[in-house]
Amino acid sequence: MEADVDHPPEPPRSVIHPLTVRIGHWINALAILIMILSGWRIYDASPLFHFEFPHGLTLGGWLAGALQWHFAAMWLLVINGVVYVLYGVFSGHYRRSFFPLTPRAVAREFGNVLRGRLSHRLGAYNAIQKLAYVGVILLGVVLVLSGLSIWKPVQFQGLAALLGGYEGARLVHFFAMAGVVGFIAIHLTLVILVPRTLPPMVTGRAPRAAASPGSET
Ligand code: HEM
Repeated sequence: MEADVDHPPEPPRSVIHPLTVRIGHWINALAILIMILSGWRIYDASPLFHFEFPHGLTLGGWLAGALQWHFAAMWLLVINGVVYVLYGVFSGHYRRSFFPLTPRAVAREFGNVLRGRLSHRLGAYNAIQKLAYVGVILLGVVLVLSGLSIWKPVQFQGLAALLGGYEGARLVHFFAMAGVVGFIAIHLTLVILVPRTLPPMVTGRAPRAAASPGSET
């Protein structure tokens, strides 16, 4: 058979991000964006510290508008987050993709970063990514629990007491938000530094030659 030089065959591709993870990831990115920008407007109505977020960077226009955005996106974040975490735990996705995660592997990867060598094979997260993903999922849990304590301090008074009361829960909520913003800054920097990771997070697929042998399917 003659080779078709004008249309060379597509290289074989493997699925490295399951559909549930991709849908969950992008819904989460949208929900987090709305939560953060509306949250900044809510903060500005009664700042905890001696600064305000520039109103141009916030969502909702005024306190009541921002609260409506915050509560609407809250349902998206929580329902999507519960589906993503249940899928991650029960499908084995977390076990395969985020573990093992050892301090030694994280230290080695930091060493690589300092030497300007970030190891990355598509479909296999390096130790810094694993730490960041596990960390941001835990931060998400803290954000939801502290948010519940601020939203319904009477109904969730046990939870609020655990977080240092209403004011304590506000502080926890603020610092968890700051942690997520820090994560997003690092996450987006890594995507810019290694842009070939982005298309597979949309299509799920990567050329088999570039994908890690341990990829999802
Ligand atoms: C426009 C914004 C975003 C872009 C472009 C983006 C891009 C990506 C890409 C390309 C990956 C795969 C990385 C790889 O294969 O090495 C990824 C994974 C991930 N991202 Fe994002 N991301 C964004 C926002 C977010 C946000 C806001 C969060 C959470 C606060 C987040 C959390 C995660 C997590 C947890 C994973 C791992 C998913 C898994 O395998 O279960 N991302 N992201």
